[in-house]
Amino acid sequence: MMSTHPGEQHRPTVSSLEVDSVVVDFQGLRAIEDVSLTLRSGEILGLIGPNGAGKTTLINVLTGFQPVMKGSVQMGGVDISDWKPHERSRRGLVRTFQGVLPFAGLTALENVEAGGVAIGLGRREARAEAVRILTDMGLSAKADRQAGTLPFGEVRRIGIARAIAMRPRFLLMDEPAAGLNDVECSELHNIIRGIAARLNCGILFIEHRMSLVFKLCDRVQVLQLGRTLAVGSTTQIRNDPNVRKAYLGEEAAAC
Ligand SMILES: Nc1ncnc2c1ncn2[C@@H]1O[C@H](COP(=O)(O)OP(=O)(O)OP(=O)(O)O)[C@@H](O)[C@H]1O
Ligand SMILES: [Mg+2]
Repeated sequence: MMSTHPGEQHRPTVSSLEVDSVVVDFQGLRAIEDVSLTLRSGEILGLIGPNGAGKTTLINVLTGFQPVMKGSVQMGGVDISDWKPHERSRRGLVRTFQGVLPFAGLTALENVEAGGVAIGLGRREARAEAVRILTDMGLSAKADRQAGTLPFGEVRRIGIARAIAMRPRFLLMDEPAAGLNDVECSELHNIIRGIAARLNCGILFIEHRMSLVFKLCDRVQVLQLGRTLAVGSTTQIRNDPNVRKAYLGEEAAAC
């Protein structure tokens, strides 16, 4: 049974992260209308939908940056709705940001080390782990380079390395493939599969390109105008008439 103490470092297995019937308003605009979502350990769940559908807002709800009007967030059956963002991240709820780069003035190593420090590791332990993670990701030769001087694809990988350093149970990735070329996308694909398998981590993957979502994800949830349009296996989503009509169109037919 999982303890409810947010600062605890011990990591028992937690089987799911759940959003239950959440509603979010922004000054009169209803951004999320009664959305529920379940992310299980070890699975990759794709979250798709047009611009403004509420994908990033849902990540903010999960990480505690966005208060809700109604509904709750649960991790391993424990209601964490009142937990602050840092309490959630220390318990393994980790995100990567849409379009935000790591600290440009820090080295690659320092950026990754910052992830370990953020969850309360000592400096030495955080550094040793950062070295291991950079090596795993093929970035050890870049460890001492300033992040801001590296190519975009490597900077993106450093952001992911920092997230891994936070020992995620659930990793919420907001368009991690945006701006990457085909080779970098396929590297990212392998990295994400590796994280899910090695850490038995549940991964929420936001992405606009359907081909990438269908290749990588176990299940897919489709949002439209703040509501869930469909949720299911990639095959179910591919063949869902509402999804095809509303969003996928020609691209789905081509996949
Ligand atoms: N801080 C905010 N204040 C006011 N409105 C907001 C705020 N954040 C988001 N919104 C609105 O809420 C809705 C959902 O936005 P959100 O960023 O979650 O969409 P998204 O699915 O992530 O879109 P994109 O694909 O463009 O990243 C949009 O209508 C957006 O304009
Ligand atoms: Mg977004």
